[in-house]
Amino acid sequence: MSTKIALGAQWGDEGKAKVVDYLTLDSDIVVRYQGGANAGHTVKVGDVEFVFHMIPSGIMHQDKICVIGNGVVVDPQALLDEIDDLHTKGFSCEGRLKVSQSAHLVLPYHKLLDRAGEESKGGVTIGTTGRGIGPAYRDKVERTHGIRVMDLFDARRLTEKLRAAVDVKNEIIKKIYNLEPLEFAPIIDSYASYAERLRPFVSDISIFLNEAIDSGKNVLFEGAQGTLLDVDHGTYPYVTSSNTTAGAACTGSGVGPTRIEEVIGVTKSYTTRVGNGPFPTEMVGEDGDHLRKLGNEFGATTGRARRCGWFDVPILRSAKRLNGLTSIALTRLDTLDTMERLKVCTSYEYKGERLDQFPSDLEILADCQPIYEEIEGWRSSTAHIRSYQELPSLARDYVELLVERIGLPASLISVGPERHATIEMD
Ligand code: IMP
Repeated sequence: MSTKIALGAQWGDEGKAKVVDYLTLDSDIVVRYQGGANAGHTVKVGDVEFVFHMIPSGIMHQDKICVIGNGVVVDPQALLDEIDDLHTKGFSCEGRLKVSQSAHLVLPYHKLLDRAGEESKGGVTIGTTGRGIGPAYRDKVERTHGIRVMDLFDARRLTEKLRAAVDVKNEIIKKIYNLEPLEFAPIIDSYASYAERLRPFVSDISIFLNEAIDSGKNVLFEGAQGTLLDVDHGTYPYVTSSNTTAGAACTGSGVGPTRIEEVIGVTKSYTTRVGNGPFPTEMVGEDGDHLRKLGNEFGATTGRARRCGWFDVPILRSAKRLNGLTSIALTRLDTLDTMERLKVCTSYEYKGERLDQFPSDLEILADCQPIYEEIEGWRSSTAHIRSYQELPSLARDYVELLVERIGLPASLISVGPERHATIEMD
């Protein structure tokens, strides 16, 4: 039996899908436990590229079971589109996809309110993905209008709950945002039809997972977004609405913390962020454009250009502490192949003092100046390399600098988007 969590150690987009796809080779079950269709996980197998928003990317391995836990906010339309898309490409979800009956649903008014809320904020927006994530979690926590997957299967309950929710949301839509209200009939009709299609996939995930672990199965928990987008520990308010840190794997799937053995922090070999908020090592101007181009850093969900910057060790120290990381998986080393020189931020200077930890107060963060160590780039291709010793010695120097400053071993190094472009460490 093995139980591992693989999660983002930075601001999302760390290349988790690729790492998860690789780790899935040794897993029986892959579980998503938080977030929703705001996630965009890109996996490349052969010449075919898939972008997953709802389903764990493990679904591409024909013999694995994929689970959407109770902590995820499920957009049924996005989920069914993904099931259909996979089906057309020859991947069946029948009998291999399980969805928690307790997960909350994303409804059309959540998406509308997400976008209306952002637009009404003027200059200071969060830069959400517009997928209704915040409003869906708000309803879950507020407890009056949350609608769960299990509600889909009781027509009377669904109609009553949805009617009450649409009435209240329409008041907000009209009075606060001055927009056209939503019609009830098309929403109930489409959600009733989703119920029919989703029914075979729905069950009690906590029971399923605990029994699977008891019987010795290997379970991989796949995080969405990244540590700094955690609603409690991230760069609040420029965060997502769920906990993205390791504890969420337990609460979002109904598995206790004593059952988790390993926590792998997936981190890019540099830093990126989508959306707004502070970013101490951001490279602005031509340097940032250059790295964005090298890494093709454009969002998988929204297509937005990602902000790019140097590797930031204080962020990784926070990720280590907040998640109890046991190792890092370092991705996109190959993206740096042509760089002449590389900078690594090892701490910050704040008002004349040295800070080794990433501050949680954004005003302090805004005044932090990165302290960099610079090293020479290796300037040769690493994309074909499959063993650590074969990496150019300057590339190893770079990896060793990161590993030593963070204080964690690297378990994997990724040198390309393909599954086999991976260096497994001893
Ligand atoms: P939301 O999750 O759509 O509410 O967006 C909140 C913040 O999280 C925004 O800055 C988004 O850009 C960011 N975000 C949400 N999902 C992802 C992701 O999968 N990768 C990177 N950033 C994300």
